[in-house]
Amino acid sequence: METPEKTRNLFIVTYGCQMNVYDSGRLGSLMRQRGWAMAESQESADFIFVNTCSIREKAARRVIGHLKRLRALKKKNPGLILGVGGCVAEQEGRRLIDEVPWLNLVVGPGRLGEIPAAAEALAAGGPPVVLSGQGPGFPEIPLAGAGPAPVSSFLTIMSGCDNYCAYCVVPYLRGPESSRPKGEILAEARDLVSRGSMEITLLGQNVNSYGRPGHRGGEDFVDLLTEVSRIPGLRRLRFTTSHPKDFPQALVDLFGRLPNLCEHLHLPLQAGSDRVLAAMGRRYGWERYLGLVAALREACPGLALSTDVIVGFPGETEAEYLETVSALRTVRFDSIFSFKYSDRPMTAANSLPGKVPEEEKQRRLAHLQAIQKTITLERHQALVGKTVEALVEGFGRHPGQLTGRARDLKVINFDGPARLLGSLAMVTVTEAWPVSLIGRLA
Ligand code: 5AD
Ligand code: SF4
Repeated sequence: METPEKTRNLFIVTYGCQMNVYDSGRLGSLMRQRGWAMAESQESADFIFVNTCSIREKAARRVIGHLKRLRALKKKNPGLILGVGGCVAEQEGRRLIDEVPWLNLVVGPGRLGEIPAAAEALAAGGPPVVLSGQGPGFPEIPLAGAGPAPVSSFLTIMSGCDNYCAYCVVPYLRGPESSRPKGEILAEARDLVSRGSMEITLLGQNVNSYGRPGHRGGEDFVDLLTEVSRIPGLRRLRFTTSHPKDFPQALVDLFGRLPNLCEHLHLPLQAGSDRVLAAMGRRYGWERYLGLVAALREACPGLALSTDVIVGFPGETEAEYLETVSALRTVRFDSIFSFKYSDRPMTAANSLPGKVPEEEKQRRLAHLQAIQKTITLERHQALVGKTVEALVEGFGRHPGQLTGRARDLKVINFDGPARLLGSLAMVTVTEAWPVSLIGRLA
C-alpha cells in the first residue's frame, strides 16, 4: 500500500476582469483534479498563484506591489511556489523574474492548462518556468463531480480581441479572437446549472464577435444566447462585454424576448466626442451609440445600462471632454466605470501627441464622477417602492442582513433568514443609496 502524500494547498489571488475570475476558477478545478486542495489563506499555501491585470498602469502597479509583499512568506517557507498569471505575466514574461527574483512561475493567459505540470516540476525543485504566447487555448477539463457551483457563475465563450482600440493593451496580451465551440459552451452551462448555478454570465473581451468567420470555433452569438437561455433551470442569463459597433438588431431584439435574459447591458462608450472616438479607433460615433441605446430601450423599457469612459485621452480638449459629460447626461446610465487615460506599452495612443497633464485628468475624472453620482442616485431613487427579484448571494454588512442582485444588476441589501442564500427572493425597495439599494422582503 502506498503511503498517502500530504495534500498540497493552492491559494489563488485574482485581480482584474471577470475573465480572470473565470480563469482562476478553472485553474482551481484543474488543480483539484490533480490532487491539490484549496488553501484557506496565503499563509497556509504551498503554491500561491496571482492572476493579474495590466489594463491600466495603476492596476499593473498594484499587482507588482502584491508580488513584492509575498517575499516575506517565501522567506518563512522557502519551498513555497509563487506563480503569476494573467496580463502582467504575458506582458512582462521573464522580466518579471528579474524584477521579483523570488518568483517561480510566470504564465500568460493562453498557457493556463500547463500550470499543473509546471507546479509538479517546481515542487520537485525545478528551475523557474516562464510560459507565454498562444497555447492550445482552453484546457479541456472534465466537468462532472466538481461539487456545487456558485449560484452566479461566469462562463468564458471567447478569448482575445481583434479591435486594437488605440489605448488598449488587451489585443497584444490576450492575442487574436478565438471562439469556443458552441457544444462545449452548452455542455459547460448545463453542467453549471445541474450543480446549482441559477445565473450565468457569458464572458469575452467582445462577446458580440463570438463565432465570427475566421475564428477558430463558434457559430452565431444570437443563436448561442438563444440556446443557452433554453437550458431548463437557468433563471438568469447575462453577457459582457459588448462592442457598440457589433450590435445587430437581432441581438437587440433578444432583450425582452428571452425571459431569462436579464435587463442589464454593459455597453462601453469610452468618449462622447466623435473626434476622440475616431482617434480611439472605436469605429462608431455618438449618433450610432445613441441610436443603439434608443433601440435597446424600445426593445426592453426597463433595461439598465452601464458603461466605461476614459477621460484625458491624448489630445482631448476641454470641449471634447464636455461632450462626454453631456453624453452621460443624455443617456443617464445606471452606473459607469470611469478611468483616467494611462499610457500602455505597445498601444497606438502611447505615441500620440497632446498628452493631458495628470492634474487635468484627475480634475476631469472627479468632475465626471460627481455628475454621474447624482444620476445613479436618481435612477436608484426611481426604484423606491418597486418590488424586484433578488438573487441572494451572501450576507450583508449588518447582522441578519442579506445581499443580492436584482435582474438589472443593482445590489440590494435587506433583512432576511440565512436559508434564502442562493435563492431568488422578491424584495421591495425602501431606500436608495449611490451604490446600492435597501429593501425588505415582499
Ligand atoms: N487607460 C485608461 N483606461 C483604459 N481602459 C482600457 N485601456 C485603458 C487605458 N490605457 C478602460 C476602457 C475599457 C476598460 C476595461 O478599461 O474604458 O473599456
Ligand atoms: Fe480593448 Fe477595444 Fe478590445 Fe475592448 S474592444 S478589449 S477596449 S481593444
